[in-house]
Amino acid sequence: MLQFEKIWLRINGADRMLLVNPEKDTLSDVLRRIGLTGIKVGCGTGVCGACSVILNGQLVRSCTRKMKSVKEYSEILTIEGIGAPGRLHPLQEAFIACGSVQCGFCSPGFIVSAYALLMKKPDPTREEVREWFRAHRNICRCTGYKQIVDAVMLAAAVMRGEASEGELRYAPPEDGRYYGTAIPRPDALAKVTGLCNYGGDISQSMPDDTLYAAIVQPKKTHHANIIAIDTQKAEKMPGVYRILTAKDIPGSNKLVSSSSHPRAKCSSPVQKVLADKKISRYGDVVALVLADTNAHARAAAAAVQVELDPLPEYLSYPEAVAPGALSIQENAPNQWGLQPVLKGDYRQIPEIMKSSDFSVQGSFHSSREPHMSVEGDVMQSYYDPNGMLTIQCKSQLLNGNRFMIAGALGLDPNKIRIIQNPTGAAFGWAMSAASWALCAAATVVTGMPVSLSFTWEEFQHFSGKRAPSYSNAALSCDRKGHITAFQYDLGVDIGPFGGFGEGLLERMAIFCGWPYRIPVVAGLNRLAFTNHNFEITYRGFGGPQAFTCSESIIDMLAAKAGIDPFEFRCLNAALPGDLNLNSRPYREPSLQELFEKARPLYYAAKERSRTSGTERIRRGVGVSLGGYNCSTGRTDNAEVRLDVLPDDSIAVSNTWEEMGQGANIGNLTITLEALKELGLTPDKVHIRTNDTLTCPNSGPAAGSRSHMMNGNAILDAAEKLLNTLRKPDGSFRTYSELVAESLPTSFSGRYDNKVHEGLEPLDPNTGEGSPLPTYMYCLYISEVEVDTETGDVRCTGMDCVCDIGSPGALDSVLGQGYGGISHSVGFALSENYEDVKKHGNMLGAGVPTACDVPDRIDIHFIDHPRMFTPFGSCGCSEMFQSSGHVAILNAIYDACGVRIFEIPVTSEAILDGLRQLKETGATVPPEPYYMGSDFWSTIEDVVAHPVKGKK
Ligand code: FES
Ligand code: FES
Repeated sequence: MLQFEKIWLRINGADRMLLVNPEKDTLSDVLRRIGLTGIKVGCGTGVCGACSVILNGQLVRSCTRKMKSVKEYSEILTIEGIGAPGRLHPLQEAFIACGSVQCGFCSPGFIVSAYALLMKKPDPTREEVREWFRAHRNICRCTGYKQIVDAVMLAAAVMRGEASEGELRYAPPEDGRYYGTAIPRPDALAKVTGLCNYGGDISQSMPDDTLYAAIVQPKKTHHANIIAIDTQKAEKMPGVYRILTAKDIPGSNKLVSSSSHPRAKCSSPVQKVLADKKISRYGDVVALVLADTNAHARAAAAAVQVELDPLPEYLSYPEAVAPGALSIQENAPNQWGLQPVLKGDYRQIPEIMKSSDFSVQGSFHSSREPHMSVEGDVMQSYYDPNGMLTIQCKSQLLNGNRFMIAGALGLDPNKIRIIQNPTGAAFGWAMSAASWALCAAATVVTGMPVSLSFTWEEFQHFSGKRAPSYSNAALSCDRKGHITAFQYDLGVDIGPFGGFGEGLLERMAIFCGWPYRIPVVAGLNRLAFTNHNFEITYRGFGGPQAFTCSESIIDMLAAKAGIDPFEFRCLNAALPGDLNLNSRPYREPSLQELFEKARPLYYAAKERSRTSGTERIRRGVGVSLGGYNCSTGRTDNAEVRLDVLPDDSIAVSNTWEEMGQGANIGNLTITLEALKELGLTPDKVHIRTNDTLTCPNSGPAAGSRSHMMNGNAILDAAEKLLNTLRKPDGSFRTYSELVAESLPTSFSGRYDNKVHEGLEPLDPNTGEGSPLPTYMYCLYISEVEVDTETGDVRCTGMDCVCDIGSPGALDSVLGQGYGGISHSVGFALSENYEDVKKHGNMLGAGVPTACDVPDRIDIHFIDHPRMFTPFGSCGCSEMFQSSGHVAILNAIYDACGVRIFEIPVTSEAILDGLRQLKETGATVPPEPYYMGSDFWSTIEDVVAHPVKGKK
């Protein structure tokens, strides 16, 4: 018998009577049910703080507070009670003004938490603010916390009367040039007030007749044959409408993930929508339960019985390529992708290394980094009034996902419409269509609207991860420190499916050893299938794995040569005209300017570390060079539309997916600048984006491409618009005048990378080529402290001196910097998804708290406008998460002499390294990894059996 209870609560100052299930309902369930959806539920298990409310004066996480422990007549304050549009609290205004809102999913929880802090302590220090957020488990995955702490400090100062309210507001530029200023995001207001409807909020308010879906994820093993799926008991459970297994999927059940690399030994790795014959990884889904409520669907999903016959599990690259390992994909060897890089007289490398004054060898491993967006995976599907299968989800590849899904579900891609929901970030995992294909399949089979919400743990096991890398490298230089030769073998584990494997190979082949002047190179970049979670894009895609190898070995060589690692890098950094490792000139390099700007920062950091360490707490400074490309390659293109509206405002439409990175502010800033002659203000530009039915296809939010590709397309459309609006006397036509003269009010723009001369794919036999039009460059200086008694490491500061051209929306660019660097700190020191039992939730997977990310992150721009990008700016996001983690590893070496070969760094590794240092005078490197075949015989085989490259 279910028992309910009436309860009076004073919510945001008003007494309200509610009916609750005291045993089952949580406080967040109840408050969200009455429409207070500013309370966001991310983890649902008390570790992210998104659901924070104030209960009887105490800050609590409402997702774990059962109603039986909430006393009647309790007082509750939620974000809705703190402030609303038109009556914002200073904290909300400060979050907007300081650029503290990116995806915004965490923002209401942070604001409520900060409100509770300021009630207790009106004048906290920055450290106290951080400690408060750490203690109350407020996690932000986007901002790196810095701008959030800035906002709390500013709001507190205003509330104490020590700063003016004017500081909370953006002052429009006097010259009308918004570009390059800290213009607030157009979506920030909805986010700081809790009014923005994310996927979970939409699911909560679906119309009648919606089916609720729950996945059956056996979570027993990484590799097994499926013997039987027994749904009989589950089908009889209350509210169950239908249970789908693979046989019900109307198409091929295969998500498209082709690899057209000429050396790929598997042209089309298969990922099933619902696993049929085999479990290939821990998070595979075998069935989907559809019921009248979420609770009924979940209860029935738990009752589905799955019988499995275990197979050997290959959970890392070396295991999967070892002799005798079973094939994970049918008809393909596990080591299936290869891209060589051969430059100069590479056959002489053993001789060159022998005769060089200094040479080093090392083997390195980077981890399976989880993206850990605070919002997990939530979506809906239904048929729209035109009969189109419509999916609302977090996709960052709206149009591409239509094609990925179509074959699997037996549909014409033109009959699929995808709309992006307001999104609580993804950082790359939402390029995959795997989860939306599940939801869409349910609508295709039943004809009904369907809502599918993963728990955070289900999402963690289901979504792709950054591919872990294993590398063996050798590097040599002459007496003066000039690099003479580089040899590397870099393999990555892409799980059982290999999403975007070809692009990953290309990025590894570009960035391992980049951006140095190295005359002779032999490199192998390899991919292997394994039974761990599948590889998917993640900010910096391919770069962090490559830099783990090359920026570590360069640091080792500098140490061996007795040259300061900063100066060693400066000596070898590419100058204009130098060839990269792909034997083509570096594009628009600005490295010497970076070093010039960074040098005083570096030596100041060295001085700080020299003067502040103790015998126990050692301090050190590390350096790394990094960067990334803009756009996805030769075939990249983007289309946009600008519409003049009846009130003479402008609507911009494209598929610049808003992941929290700043698509909306990017569209706004570029449109304002492109149409500057019209004298528009921000409120006169409307962002109407991310619906594949109504918006031109401007491609994915990936590869730091959006600003450049969308921006150039907007410029094209803006030129047409201005030419049409311009009258002979130089003034501009209004909408009414356009209509009266039968002139168009809608203007399309397009940009295509075909305009760039000299773009060519990498040669599959040599790695020669130049597939990408422009790059960003950066230099990291990291400061750490190492506790030599406990082995604990803390990153205490980070400078990033960077060249991204000319920044557009300043707060957003900085936000990408702080956020990317915070992920690099986590990548180096804590984050992992290796142990599926331990890493299933955010905390266990090592998400950095506000106290783990340094308060001092300083980003320094050099002004180096790009030739063919909008207003001289290229992209920025991926660069900020390229090699910062290696700067931290190199700082650990500087601090205590322990060289780190594997991340994330553990205190055991530090203590072990210190013991080795004491006993032998050096850190013992790991044995070289087995990569699947001998390095030199593989190179000879490549040379003896060339394949045809792409045209
Ligand atoms: S702590 Fe409640 S949703 Fe994460
Ligand atoms: S802005 Fe904090 S999680 Fe996205």
